Amino acid sequence: TKPLRIGVAGLGTVGVGVVKILAARREFLAAAAGRSIDIVAVSARNKAKARGIDIGSARWEDDALKLATADDIDVVVELIGGAEGVARALVETALANGKHVVTANKALIAHHGIALAKLAENKGVALNYEAAVAGGIPIIKALREGLAANEIESVTGILNGTCNYILTEMETTGRDFADVLKDAQALGYAEADPSFDVGGIDAAHKLAILASLAFGREVDFGSVNIEGIEKITAADIKFAKEFGYKIKLLAIATKSDGGVEQRVHPALVAEGSPLAAVSGVFNAVAVRGDRVGLLVLEGRGAGEGPTASAVLSDLVDIARGLVMPPFIVPTSHLKAPAKAAEGGPESAYY
Ligand code: HSE
Repeated sequence: TKPLRIGVAGLGTVGVGVVKILAARREFLAAAAGRSIDIVAVSARNKAKARGIDIGSARWEDDALKLATADDIDVVVELIGGAEGVARALVETALANGKHVVTANKALIAHHGIALAKLAENKGVALNYEAAVAGGIPIIKALREGLAANEIESVTGILNGTCNYILTEMETTGRDFADVLKDAQALGYAEADPSFDVGGIDAAHKLAILASLAFGREVDFGSVNIEGIEKITAADIKFAKEFGYKIKLLAIATKSDGGVEQRVHPALVAEGSPLAAVSGVFNAVAVRGDRVGLLVLEGRGAGEGPTASAVLSDLVDIARGLVMPPFIVPTSHLKAPAKAAEGGPESAYY
């Protein structure tokens, strides 16, 4: 069987992790995937930067968009980030050219997920984004496949490692928010614009994606109510503790009358509950389904190993020939039924 030929755009923390795992676990991954997964091209902004990786015989492209049109590439792995700009153009062009896409880009999927999914389905290719939510926790697979038999009642997550680290540090050291934020940035998990972390936007991107999968609705980032952790003081955390609570930035999606309520805000979480025990940069997702009951997954939500691990899981699926609909929206949840007639081929979400 032919190798799966991939092009990697973006060699930051996650891209470097992907290159390393593919080299270190080459044989095992080939066995898991049924064929070898080969990097044929890479692209990043700065060619000269020392990264401690060997790209072997892969060619270097200065222009990431070339990956989207190259004849020798089956899958474009987008690890650039950002809802617009190069990342969006790359993913759109790759899908339009009939290439599978694997991305870790939560902002892109939260804002344009449904339109991109439609493009992917029309071309019969995969758009996989396991790495976009909660890093190493396989929550996309869990919701899309493992829990498909369930009517989901709620999804509650700690989805931003930077915020959880800040709140944990404030609790254990009594230091104040502004003081701890610098440490959090030094860890390298924060977004390029850290206001996306502390303002709750990053968690909201991830929540909108999870809510779509959990409730069979279109991704609706615009309707997430968002409040960040900027106003939380060390005193708030201390008082909460006296009453037996921790303060966590929770991302919550629940069914409400005829719709879905999505919110991100600091919340009191009772000590002894699973989410109260999640500390530092860890993430967790608690899902309540009518058949399975409560399920809680905890793990590392950011960083090289965990996020690259999720990217590889998506690549193994594609190598095996598994092309899932990126989102599943039953027709009964149509926002505008009239669109189905104009929209070309029937899809799972229109
Ligand atoms: N800035 C994010 C976090 C990175 O702190 O969780 C992972 O998406």
